[in-house]
Amino acid sequence: MKILFVSSEVSPFAKTGGLADVVGALPQYLARRGHDVRVVMPLYKSIDTYAHRLIPLLPEIIVDWGTDRISGEVMRCSHPSSPADVPMYFIAQELLFDRDGLYGEAGQDYFDNDRRFAFFNFATLWMLKGLNWSPDVIHLNDWQAGMVAALLKHHPIISEDDFYRRIRTVFTIHNMAYQGLFHHDMMPRMNLPWYIYNPDGIEFHNQVSTLKAGIVFSDRITTVSPTYAKEIQTEEHGAGMDGVLRLRARELDGILNGIDDDVWNPETDALIPANYSADDTSGKAKCRKALLKQFGIKDKAGAPVIGMISRLVDQKGFDIVAKAMPEILATGARIVLLGTGEAKHEEFFRSLAARNPGQVGVAIEYNEKTAHLIEAGSDCFLMPSYFEPSGLNQLYSMRYGTIPIVRGVGGLKDSIEHANKKTITAGKATGFVFERYTAGALQQMVKRAVQCYQDQKLWQKLVKDAMTKDFTWDRSAKEYEKVYKKTMKK
Ligand code: ADP
Ligand code: GLC
Repeated sequence: MKILFVSSEVSPFAKTGGLADVVGALPQYLARRGHDVRVVMPLYKSIDTYAHRLIPLLPEIIVDWGTDRISGEVMRCSHPSSPADVPMYFIAQELLFDRDGLYGEAGQDYFDNDRRFAFFNFATLWMLKGLNWSPDVIHLNDWQAGMVAALLKHHPIISEDDFYRRIRTVFTIHNMAYQGLFHHDMMPRMNLPWYIYNPDGIEFHNQVSTLKAGIVFSDRITTVSPTYAKEIQTEEHGAGMDGVLRLRARELDGILNGIDDDVWNPETDALIPANYSADDTSGKAKCRKALLKQFGIKDKAGAPVIGMISRLVDQKGFDIVAKAMPEILATGARIVLLGTGEAKHEEFFRSLAARNPGQVGVAIEYNEKTAHLIEAGSDCFLMPSYFEPSGLNQLYSMRYGTIPIVRGVGGLKDSIEHANKKTITAGKATGFVFERYTAGALQQMVKRAVQCYQDQKLWQKLVKDAMTKDFTWDRSAKEYEKVYKKTMKK
């Protein structure tokens, strides 16, 4: 099959969260299975065109959608981690993308994100014509790509063009909380007909939602875990779109994310001080030592190191973390956090570290290398999310023998098997799962994990079992293949 991925983030070129990891990996795994897979993203300022050896592909494209006319350029390179050649295409437009942020700066979204991503979506379709390459399926990701589905079905020029007629679309929801909401003057500015601007179409409470465009106009929808696929059809997690999702329930699949073995593998990871495997975990102790040193933490016998790596946003459960923290610290556990995000959460962790030197270490920054060190050097990984579409860090944690403590929602529920004596002995357990979204439930589960850590024989068995669970992308790639096939039958 010929498949084009459209995404605003792709690892290692530009990343703010898990979306980049997914689109940095899944296309490679599909290509290894014999498909012609290509990826397109915007060319942001932060992408080093020299280091990645970008070359011009279409030096000038004039994107003209009837009401706006913008010229840009398409550049290309190969994805660096691919033995299979996955072409990477970059849409370059200086005024729109040559900026310091991906979506905004200093906590403020860019005022013209509607025009920026409208251009990205239009230019993607223009590019295909320029290349004379017509994919079977365009795989759209999140709100930044959702308008492609609307353009193919309803744009007066594009929907009438034979070149695009056979193309099918799959839209993947990575997070319902980011809905791409813009003023409805986007409709005439994109030359889209008003008849799709209604509650069954692209309208969401008197605005345009580009997420909803993807949900309503794509041929099939996926999201990143089976449980989240169910949750988003409920009022609690549907973010106001549970109704339209229920209408399309038969075309909605939940496929759990995987681990990119080239990037997250303790046996080969070049970013950690010592490599190790399930058969010989001695390197993990070295990583733990290095982690404690980097964060200025004093080791204490019997006390586990609990790591966190996260965007610091409400989704991730930081309000219950803050409430539970005194009890968690009373267990003696060491805390290490890496993250950036909302000011209130950043301030909480900064002050927590200042008040608890030697026990709490915090780095308010984005740092790949430190992320790998935390995965390798921690004993536990805390992810008490309010909601979690898939989650990747709990998967990486298992792979690195770092036992996740999670809330049983979304992808966390689908990936972690709760540990007790029985499940550990049976070789099934991989982490600690609590259900209720309360500080009490969280601190109780942390206490359980700390207790379990005291029994090192049992703990080491848990570590080994977590490390050998299979979460590679291969399994999920096969499921995506089935979804593509279903769209082509349509
Ligand atoms: P989300 O996409 O909701 O942020 P995921 O668990 O799917 O959550 O993915 C988060 C990804 O971003 C992981 O690869 C994680 O290591 C990375 N990450 C998050 N914050 C940081 C940070 N401050 N520094 C380095 N990597 C980070
Ligand atoms: C989103 C979700 C996260 C998921 C990621 C990649 O950012 O919050 O759970 O793993 O997308 O699909």
